[in-house]
Amino acid sequence: MVSADFSVNSGAVFTEAIGNDRLDLLTDYPFTRLANLLAPITPRANVAPVLLTVGEPQHTPPAIIEETLRASASGWNKYPPVGGTPEFRAATGDWLTRRYDLPAGLLHADSSILPLSGTREALFMLALLAVPTQKAGRQPAVLMPNPFYAPYEGATVMAGAEPVFLSATRETGFLPDLDALTPELLERTALFYLCTPANPQGAAATPAYLAKAIGLARQYGFVLAVDECYAEIWLDAPPVGALQVAAKLHETNGLPYADGKPWSNLLVFHSLSKRSSAAGLRSGFVAGDPALIGRFSRLRSYGCAGMPLPILAASTALWRDEAHVEENRAAYRAKFAAAEAELGGRYGYYRPAGGFFLWLEVGNGEEAARRLWAEGAVRVLPGAYLSRSNPGEPNPGEAFIRVALVQDTDTVAQACASIVRILG
Ligand SMILES: Cc1ncc(COP(=O)(O)O)c(C=O)c1O
Repeated sequence: MVSADFSVNSGAVFTEAIGNDRLDLLTDYPFTRLANLLAPITPRANVAPVLLTVGEPQHTPPAIIEETLRASASGWNKYPPVGGTPEFRAATGDWLTRRYDLPAGLLHADSSILPLSGTREALFMLALLAVPTQKAGRQPAVLMPNPFYAPYEGATVMAGAEPVFLSATRETGFLPDLDALTPELLERTALFYLCTPANPQGAAATPAYLAKAIGLARQYGFVLAVDECYAEIWLDAPPVGALQVAAKLHETNGLPYADGKPWSNLLVFHSLSKRSSAAGLRSGFVAGDPALIGRFSRLRSYGCAGMPLPILAASTALWRDEAHVEENRAAYRAKFAAAEAELGGRYGYYRPAGGFFLWLEVGNGEEAARRLWAEGAVRVLPGAYLSRSNPGEPNPGEAFIRVALVQDTDTVAQACASIVRILG
């Protein structure tokens, strides 16, 4: 139990056990750990700091945002509905249908999509939706890749489930090895968080991989949550999406579209934070299984703020525009080219399928992060802060740093040159 000192109005000071002790099972959040690691270090004088830690694109946000926010300002004095507006659902439904080549009419936007004030809080809430008291008579398990996006673990622990960290290393193509999952584990699995393109490694799941994951979710009765928030930041070809694969499975099974079940057990998460360089807008959506979406809507009515109407309007316009997304992709391609030119083949550099991270093998990620900050004022994240050790196995992030290519091309090139100069 956590203890805290309270000063009360009477002036009395007392100590009382407070709170949910599950919170103490979590480490500090990765960026808090990084701040603690680097706090004692003062970078060399006369060097401007370069922040490559947070996945927060520094590109100028599209003008559409300001225009639509201004035009819909009358909506600020209204509580927004949990389900958003019909226009938002239509825009995101049309976008999914276009982007993933879904058969016309297969996705019913009104029953299959919910707006989210950023995907982070919904990925967290999802565990409260998906984790039952027990599964197969035991503590439920929640599967996630290792390394992983920190909220997956936080949500799992706070929901009372056991997080199961599935190594996603070079040997497994930087995605969890689905063939290694035992029936014993799958039977008590309540939820599987998958991320494609993966943060941090940028690997994209193939159609066969996603088909297998969807099949397992249906066979063992768990929720498959596919975090596709980097889906629009790709270099050579658009990564396949889980809805796309589910639609194909549905077609090949010969089921009529009208049965309404092409998406069973499946939810996908999309965000404007990376696609539209609009992390501050807090805008995303979840789409998929209408039964799960209905229950999610019910849960969210109790625990979540709806997306404000002006933000729904801005988001609707952004999902209907591709020009700014093309520009973003071109900017990331230039940055990867610049990074590649500076790094050569060092640190196991590879060109990722998607996302905007370099995942560099530097020997000791924490030591490298300290040196880069001290000697070059370059701030990167140690890979171990995104991963966990399983008993008897090395931590799959320990030897890595994550470098977010969120600054402009010249800054990225200079930072990569500093990495080579300092780490050799
Ligand atoms: C893998 C992954 N999922 C989800 C998110 C959350 O994005 P947002 O809450 O801005 O939609 C992030 C943000 O960094 C992420 O890296």
